Amino acid sequence: MTGARPLPLGSAIGILGGGQLGQMTAVAARRLGYRSVVLDPDPASPAAQVADQLIQGSLEDRASIEAMAQHAAVVTYEFENVSADAVAALAERVPVHPSSDILKTSQHRLREKAAVVRLGGQVPPFAAVGSPADLEAALSSLRLPVVIKTATGGYDGKGQAVARTAAEARAAVVQLLQVCDTLIAEEQVDLALELSVICARDQQGRLATYPAAENRHVHGILDVSSTPARASGAVLGRADAVARQVATGLGLVGVMAVEMFVDQQGRVLVNEIAPRPHNSGHHTIEASATSQFEQLVRMVAGLPLGDTRVARPAAMANLLGDWWGPDGTPPDVARMLAVPGVSLHLYGKAAARPGRKMGHLTAVGDTVEDAVARVLKARGDRPPTA
Ligand SMILES: Nc1ncnc2c1ncn2[C@@H]1O[C@H](COP(=O)(O)OP(=O)(O)O)[C@@H](O)[C@H]1O
Ligand SMILES: [Mg+2]
Repeated sequence: MTGARPLPLGSAIGILGGGQLGQMTAVAARRLGYRSVVLDPDPASPAAQVADQLIQGSLEDRASIEAMAQHAAVVTYEFENVSADAVAALAERVPVHPSSDILKTSQHRLREKAAVVRLGGQVPPFAAVGSPADLEAALSSLRLPVVIKTATGGYDGKGQAVARTAAEARAAVVQLLQVCDTLIAEEQVDLALELSVICARDQQGRLATYPAAENRHVHGILDVSSTPARASGAVLGRADAVARQVATGLGLVGVMAVEMFVDQQGRVLVNEIAPRPHNSGHHTIEASATSQFEQLVRMVAGLPLGDTRVARPAAMANLLGDWWGPDGTPPDVARMLAVPGVSLHLYGKAAARPGRKMGHLTAVGDTVEDAVARVLKARGDRPPTA
């Protein structure tokens, strides 16, 4: 089957955002013969360190949009908290993938849930909360405990609180309404496990998914991700099917992660979508023929979909700033790399703060248990601080 003409080699791929996801995308672009141009205010940001060109600035100013439109042949983004209106303005000048519509949907938890439900997915019972009175109505229909979340702006567990009692929910609502005028209250799911499925879809609508990753979060931040996920074939089949429905229904071009909860009854509930490479897909660098980053470059460049099979069991462990010493001393990387099968990725962030993603480790193994054991051995046993 023929597709659109691929982006000529040497063209620049624009990346909005300078974080580690942009860094790994820029490296993948370079390997495929493209250049990268990154937009970020910080010249020392992870992606700026490897990009061919940096536009130092923010999407909020017109000059940056203008510069990106001038220098990039196609544009993508590496985080969701960029202005969807600015991305839409940029899209009038240069192709942007995934679309600003998908970005907008993913930026607001109510729009996101409405889209998932419209496309046939299930979500945890929830209610919109714009005032303390809304919460009282929500509490009459929802079962405690509930999770109160800001509708916009949250990431890595920020902007949310778990409430075990009505009083705790009221306090959380008062506090979170100060940072966001729309909240959601949703039932806390009695989790069996969390899964994510990374989807890739090309400009002709061909779709591929990576096998689901099993994700363990600590304090709302991804800690360890492993694949194959230890869930039944039925659960994995449902997770894959719902991810495909959502990616297709939203008209994805590029790469998108669908995060899901699996409850004790084996129900698969969509938590959120992220229309970009995802922390739970990092193992695809070592364990798949085509990583999620190369896949994104292929999709925006009009190249064929790559193989999404995960050839070997793999596990990824994040290295948060908590693993650095109080004086900024890095962890002992030689000790980490002495564990067979382990790869290290450091993002080049200067300041280590608790909860900040500084890098990650990936291990491949003969079984998923083996891969998890290796990656945890490499990281050491000290858990992240509270
Ligand atoms: N309704 C819920 N039930 C159970 N756990 C939840 C719920 N909402 C959030 N969590 C936990 O918090 C993590 C982060 O929540 P999420 O909504 O994905 O926010 P973020 O945008 O910060 O990633 C989830 O991966 C999960 O571990
Ligand atoms: Mg999440």
